[in-house]
Amino acid sequence: MPNRSPIAARKPRLVFCTARPARYAAVLNVLRQTFAITVIPNDPSAAKTFETHPDCIVIENQLVGGDGMWLAQQANALRAGGRQSLIMVAPKMTLPIGRLIEERVIDAAITGSPETGEFLNSFWRAYGTVSEDETLSALSKPAGQVMQSGRQLFTQLEDMTATGGIDLEGRKLVASAAASVVDLAGDPSVAPMLHQLRGHHDSTFAHSLRVGILMASFGRAIGVGDDQLRLMAETGLLHDLGKMQVPLSILAKPGSLTEAERQEMSLHPVYGAQLVNEGYRDLPDLISAVRHHHEKLDGTGYPDGQTRGQIHEMSLCTAVVDVFSALTDRRDYKEPMERDQAFAIMDTMAGPHLEPRLYRRFRELVLDTRLADEPQVRAAR
Ligand SMILES: [Fe+2]
Ligand SMILES: [Fe+2]
Repeated sequence: MPNRSPIAARKPRLVFCTARPARYAAVLNVLRQTFAITVIPNDPSAAKTFETHPDCIVIENQLVGGDGMWLAQQANALRAGGRQSLIMVAPKMTLPIGRLIEERVIDAAITGSPETGEFLNSFWRAYGTVSEDETLSALSKPAGQVMQSGRQLFTQLEDMTATGGIDLEGRKLVASAAASVVDLAGDPSVAPMLHQLRGHHDSTFAHSLRVGILMASFGRAIGVGDDQLRLMAETGLLHDLGKMQVPLSILAKPGSLTEAERQEMSLHPVYGAQLVNEGYRDLPDLISAVRHHHEKLDGTGYPDGQTRGQIHEMSLCTAVVDVFSALTDRRDYKEPMERDQAFAIMDTMAGPHLEPRLYRRFRELVLDTRLADEPQVRAAR
């Protein structure tokens, strides 16, 4: 069983190494709103803390004394290609610090007085550069677009809070859900599978990320607990994993499929459940949701022809989100469908295909948060 991290949006951890914590008190107070902060002396004992792999390490380098330069080397040796940010603060820029940046030992240096707003601005630039740009650049273009649209969602939600469009609590819930998916996509238990999917068919990978984000937002909207939320996000991310075993000639075929091709395509939930079962034997709900995301309430879905009462709620949620995403994703051969048009189609599906109560709740969520106004990506059928 892979190592699992809680999906609940945790605060990123920041280790601040300084001999003069009082000097940075105001800065630390602001950063505490975002980070769980540990302040420790900038002496050799700090290296032990780096082994816990915090999300961000800030090391003060005094002009005289202290071990800032040595500590930076230690921290860099331990991050070994991870996404951790490593930032140095110093009274002024020096040649040795410049060399550390050039050699990519540290990501940035912040100089000047910590009393100024510019100091914090520099910090956010340094932290953002590493954690966001590196993450996005490691992804393919469509996947990067999905991540960016997730981030745009946060911004939209912030705007709506300011204008009273959605209450603060609602904004926090949806934003943390989407942030969790971004984390989850890089989680060691999920990332390798997504990576393989991306290698096989990038559009399906991008579609999966979008469904993951929508599922997590949906989960927050219907008030599920943290464990359930993680399950929803995972189901969204992994629901089409089985398409890895469907030939590319079918997945990427621009025209309609032959009957034989359609049958092969309709096996992807079975393949997906088998693949997920290999990594998540103890999560039957996830395996079942992946297998049954194309079932319909009237029994005309696949692969098992389950009917109302037999289909697990997680599969019903996935079906709603998946259909919406499939309609509004941009495809190689068509522009994304307008939100209203998609809902007009889905209105007719509520009942025979989609669970009406869940569909209505999802529709409200999308209308409330303008999820469908995000730039869409090329995605799988
Ligand atoms: Fe599917
Ligand atoms: Fe799908």
